[in-house]
Order: sequence, then C-alpha cells, then structure tokens
Amino acid sequence: MNAKVVLFDELGGPEVLRLEQVRLDEPGEGEVQVRIDAIGLNRAEALFRSGGYYYQPTLPASRIGTEAAGVVEAVGPGVEGFSPGDAVSVLATGIDMSTNGVYGDRVNVAARSLLRRPDSVDAVTGAAVWLSYLTAYGALIEVGRMRPGDEVVITAASSSVGMAAIQLANHIGAVPIAVTRTAAKADRLMRAGAAHVLAMDEDDLVKRVAMLTSGRGARLVFDSVGGPGLAGVARAVTRDGMLIVYGWLDPRPAPLPMNWPLNIFGFGLNVVTDDPAALRRGEAFINAGLRSGVLAPVIDATFDLADIADAHRHMEANGQLGKIVVTVRH
Ligand SMILES: NC(=O)c1ccc[n+]([C@@H]2O[C@H](COP(=O)([O-])OP(=O)(O)OC[C@H]3O[C@@H](n4cnc5c(N)ncnc54)[C@H](OP(=O)(O)O)[C@@H]3O)[C@@H](O)[C@H]2O)c1
Repeated sequence: MNAKVVLFDELGGPEVLRLEQVRLDEPGEGEVQVRIDAIGLNRAEALFRSGGYYYQPTLPASRIGTEAAGVVEAVGPGVEGFSPGDAVSVLATGIDMSTNGVYGDRVNVAARSLLRRPDSVDAVTGAAVWLSYLTAYGALIEVGRMRPGDEVVITAASSSVGMAAIQLANHIGAVPIAVTRTAAKADRLMRAGAAHVLAMDEDDLVKRVAMLTSGRGARLVFDSVGGPGLAGVARAVTRDGMLIVYGWLDPRPAPLPMNWPLNIFGFGLNVVTDDPAALRRGEAFINAGLRSGVLAPVIDATFDLADIADAHRHMEANGQLGKIVVTVRH
C-alpha cells in the first residue's frame, strides 16, 4: 500500500515541506496502521523543520509531526486492545519525528502512542486535544498542584497550550492571568476565559501581577516564552510559588532569574507520558472535561494536507488563538 506523507530534505522555512507518495509496509510488531483524518500542529514541528528543536532531523527525507486522529486500519503482531475500525487519537511523543512523524494520510505508529477516541470526539478535536491539554495538565496539576483560588500567570496565552491552561485553571477554580505580546488579542482572550489579560508591550508585568494578587505575586507562572524576559516573569512568582518553564518561543538566551528563593521547574511532557499512573490520571481528567464540555479545544483554523506549508506559515505568523489543524481527504 502507498501513503502520502510530508517530508523535508533540508532545514528551512515552511517551503521545505513537500508531500510525497511512499510505500507503507504492513504494521510491524507492536504497531498499528492508522488512516489519518486530521493532524494537530504544534510549535515543536516548526522548530524541528527549521533546526531549532532540541534534537536535529535526519536529512534528507525527514518526516515530521506528533499529533493526529483517525481510524485504525490494521494491527501488527502483539498488539492488544485495538482493532480495525477503532477511532483513535495519536500522540507520538518521545520518539524521533524523522522516522515516526505523523503528517500524512496513513501511518504506522506504536500502539502505545494511541489513545481511544470516543464517538462524541470528532477527528479535528481528537487531533487538537492531547499534546496541549496533557502539557497544561501535567505542568499545572501534577507538578504545580494548582488549587482553587491560585493566581496563575500564563504567557503566550493564545498558543494552543496557553488556551488549554486557561480552561484548566477555570475548571479548577484558579484565576488565569493571560499574558500576550500586544493588546490585539485581549478581547478574544477575555472571551476565552482569561480573568485578566496583560499585554507585554503595554503593561509592567510584575507591577500588574502584584496589583492583581494583593501584592502576593502569582502562585504559578507557566511560561513558554523564555528569552531575556524570563527574569521579569520570574519576579511575578510568590515566594512559595513556582515558575514552570516549558518552551523557548523567544530563542534568545534567558538569564537565570535571581529573585531567590525561587522554585523553577523545567517541564517536559515526558513527566506525564513516562509515568503510567500520571498518564492515566491525565487521560481521565481530560476525557471527563471533554465529556462535560468544560474542556474544549479552540480551533483557530483548518488547512488541507496539500496546503501544509501554508499551515506552517500561519502558525509562525503568530496571529492564532488556539490550535491549527490540518484535515486529510481520502
Ligand atoms: N515542554 C513541553 O513538553 C511542551 C509541550 C507542548 C508545547 N511546548 C511548547 O509550548 C509552546 C507553545 O506551543 P504551541 O504549539 O501551543 O504554540 P503556538 O500555538 O504556535 O503558539 C503561538 C503563540 O505563542 C506566542 N508567541 C509566539 N512567538 C512568541 C515570542 N517570540 N515571544 C512571545 N510570545 C510568542 C503568540 O501568542 P500571543 O499572540 O498571545 O503573544 C503566538 O500566538 C512552544 O514553545 C512549545 O515548544 C512544550
């Protein structure tokens, strides 16, 4: 059988991404073949494509992609619990994207990368939920022990993880303080559930957070921006709070925050995905939220797989609010 997959031969901008027909073998030991109906885009993939991720792609003909949803078409030897026809989400983390990337119309993935997708969850939602909500869940709830009443500063608030964090904070009864680069998305962030919105180019973050927290500072700061501003956001943390750093959207060097004592946690999703009990808790928490409707991925835009380069351009233009999804026609 053939599959249409996205490949790239050199590091670069969105234009390096190309679609190609490749041979798709039967699924191997422990693998499942999935017809992909929708693909969730993540900033990690733009970084991977351009050489800015934490490991480098194997070139030429590197694959790309982490997150998708579709239907099981075949199962390999040794796979239990999945059968052809099952609706699934794919969360292929902790593996090399160059060989296992999921941008394509059909892929073989390790069965452990699959999550069941209830009938009520369509493919677009199923491709948009897991990476961002599990990241927000793992960081804020498993690591940060977010509690009702906690003020939580969320930078890059309109990112797919930021939007998930706003919903999670509201669900727990915490107070999400959204931080965004300019005021352009402020109204939309308020409508999306932010209790307060701070614009980095207009507000003195530390002063405003102090005002909003009766001088205490926030119990949690959830930051994916890093860069020279890191020392500033760190000063918004209350003394017994925690700065959770989980990205480097600003690739410039970040100074070590010096407002000690300060708890800094560098969060990786493997905190959750490598711990079966934490993963089970995260899945249960997020599935319950999806069922009740309190958690619902905000879809910024959808693109066709043929327009994958445009989808990456859209991601890197930073105009989004929520998740960008690519749909696949069969
Ligand atoms: N550690 C982990 O396990 C883990 C897991 C998932 C994601 N991540 C990281 O989380 C971050 C968000 O990922 P995502 O896929 O949700 O991103 P995304 O949806 O592409 O986020 C884009 C948003 O980030 C903000 N932004 C972009 N560039 C910025 C810059 N230079 N300075 C400040 N803000 C900037 C903008 O929001 P505003 O317009 O609101 O400013 C933009 O709309 C990435 O750094 C990603 O690598 C880490």
